[in-house]
Amino acid sequence: MSVGIDLISFYTSRYYLGLESLAQARGVDYEKYRSGLGQEKMAIPPPDEDVITMGASAAKPILDQIDVNDVELLLFATESGVDQSKAAGLFVHGLLNLSNRCRVVELKEACYSGTAALQLAAAQISQSLHSTKALVIASDVARYDLGSPGEPTQGCGAVAMLVTLNPRILALDPEAGFHAADVMDFWRPSYRDEALVDGKFSTKVYLDTAVSAWEHYVERSGRTISELYRFCYHLPFTRMGIKAHERVLQAAEGSNDTAKHASEAVSEGFAYTRDTGNSYTASLFESFACLLDNNSELAGKRIGLFSYGSGCMGEFFSGVVDPEYQKHLFSADHKAMLEDRTQLAYQEYEDIFNLKVPEDGWKYVFAQYRTGPFRFGGIEEHKRVYEAVET
Ligand code: HMG
Repeated sequence: MSVGIDLISFYTSRYYLGLESLAQARGVDYEKYRSGLGQEKMAIPPPDEDVITMGASAAKPILDQIDVNDVELLLFATESGVDQSKAAGLFVHGLLNLSNRCRVVELKEACYSGTAALQLAAAQISQSLHSTKALVIASDVARYDLGSPGEPTQGCGAVAMLVTLNPRILALDPEAGFHAADVMDFWRPSYRDEALVDGKFSTKVYLDTAVSAWEHYVERSGRTISELYRFCYHLPFTRMGIKAHERVLQAAEGSNDTAKHASEAVSEGFAYTRDTGNSYTASLFESFACLLDNNSELAGKRIGLFSYGSGCMGEFFSGVVDPEYQKHLFSADHKAMLEDRTQLAYQEYEDIFNLKVPEDGWKYVFAQYRTGPFRFGGIEEHKRVYEAVET
């Protein structure tokens, strides 16, 4: 019996900064961002949006289609957690009225933990004696210091995936290749809101990890690269996906003439990330959702996916797209959401960036911005208060 992704839904903030404005403010040639990094916009969460509201908003369209009592596992992957103890998934559990008979936990390993959550959920569901479902949510806000090289790669977003037997979108292959190493390429100490990164080193570690995970995947699966039809990568910025696939093609085929093939194999999964920026744990699945929404010929095809989390952990895995997948996508909603966003002026971006969540535990009520169906309403006695929004 197959196991994998039964439904997949993506959500991002209703606000963005055009990278032309950022380039102007930083005195940088916009082409560096547009063609050098492959980025055009970065999604900016307003003060009343966070990983919990984004995660719940991504999951709601899925839960609207099923009996919520069937969800017996909720895995929430993030590196932008809002509490050192309480799992972000428990706030989502409340907002979405999930059953008390549900296991809920938060997972962390930089951008990789969404994949860990998916694989753990698939393993759990395939062993379950009952016909249960798992909800995997990957949700993040990418923040770097103002004026740093990482700044134009900021972004935010969430992807929710329902994991079931006989999935209607992607049946996961049992084989995967992985690679772990203790490196300091990107990290965020608990006392900082912004990540620290050794930028050029991080891209090198990412590329080496992709090749190593690919080689392990080949050892485990015996497959050749030609058995995979399209590839999705973790996308800190979209050019990274092309560079990574070029390296994987070189390792697989021993050829250096890979640029055109690399672009063909990965770029259908770029459009959403180009307009949101990095969404860390959600990024790989945002690219996968984008590929599904933009290619109508994936039925029965095998897709390769590479997940990378700094620190570092990489995994190459694959799955086969269901023949009926197009009937179960949220493509129109994804596209409408991206088209209906508010562009920020540069100063508005900086004002939102500098607005910190108060830490004195006093009662705060946040101004209402545009969000999805849920918002972070404020704080009372050190407790975060979330609320549903009238739509
Ligand atoms: P940088 O130093 O500002 O940029 O940092 P650059 O000088 O390397 O230029 C970037 C590209 O633009 C280059 O292309 C330039 O040639 C080109 P390349 O040589 O690489 O093909 N360029 C131009 N193109 C056209 N017109 C121009 C122009 N000027 C330059 N005028 C860097 C780039 C990625 C290092 C920086 O943005 C950064 O630090 N980003 C954050 C870290 C990051 O994203 N790392 C990626 C790998 S690690 C990862 O993916 C994990 C992560 O998601 C976190 C997690 O796991 O949790 C980050």
